[in-house]
Amino acid sequence: MDKVFIGTNWKMYKTIEQGKAYCQTLNDIAHNLDKRIQLFIIPSYTSLIPLRQEVDSSRILLGAQNMHWDDEGPYTGEISPSMLKEIGIDIIELGHSERRQYYNENDQDLNKKVLAALNKEFIPLLCIGEKLEDKEMGISKESLSIQLKIGLKNVTKEQVNKVLIAYEPVWAIGAGGTEAPSDYVHVMHNHIRNVLIELFEEEGKDIPILFGGSVNRGNAIGYLEGKNVNGLFIGRSAWDLQKFEPILHDIEQLLKR
Ligand code: 13P
Repeated sequence: MDKVFIGTNWKMYKTIEQGKAYCQTLNDIAHNLDKRIQLFIIPSYTSLIPLRQEVDSSRILLGAQNMHWDDEGPYTGEISPSMLKEIGIDIIELGHSERRQYYNENDQDLNKKVLAALNKEFIPLLCIGEKLEDKEMGISKESLSIQLKIGLKNVTKEQVNKVLIAYEPVWAIGAGGTEAPSDYVHVMHNHIRNVLIELFEEEGKDIPILFGGSVNRGNAIGYLEGKNVNGLFIGRSAWDLQKFEPILHDIEQLLKR
């Protein structure tokens, strides 16, 4: 494995002060960590400007949790690509299941956001995942194919090397989620890889596919052993660095194998 992306979505947690304290410790941890581990953090909007100064940009990428597709306009409550570019954001997280579920984000709008992010030379992190109903109906793969094919429509082969995919089964996310078995995750990642190759041929082989949903120290390495699992996108187990640091050291050991 040449590079693994390990990042955390803070959702609507952590104040600026809490975020600063977190970043100071994470910088120290990152300093001594295997350079093949590409760390990233995705805080709330209010923390992005202060944390831009705190995060060691040579080791940790900084992301925003959402973005509008237009550069300006009458869209109360939204944040534009130019606004995020102005403050030096690296990654734009798009289509997290909580945004799809509570704010009705759909694949067509996410496609506009992916294209806008690429236009501004951000790294879009497109989140996809099947719902429990899809899994029970036996249509998980179909659901993932649809989300990928619409979400990545009109992305060119030249642009796609900037894209990250996060596979997060909706039923595995958060406190009420169920941990996904690693063999299930490996099968789904292989399916996602096949769809990416269908869409982008050779270029589809190198798009990093991250896994997320109740990742913890007990299951992280099992997931990463899948050949098409190129990183982890972690919520609760990364918000406390006492829990996150041991996971990072386990990944370092895996990279040495
Ligand atoms: P948990 O790791 O807390 O299940 O959250 C995962 C997630 O939503 C990352 O985006």
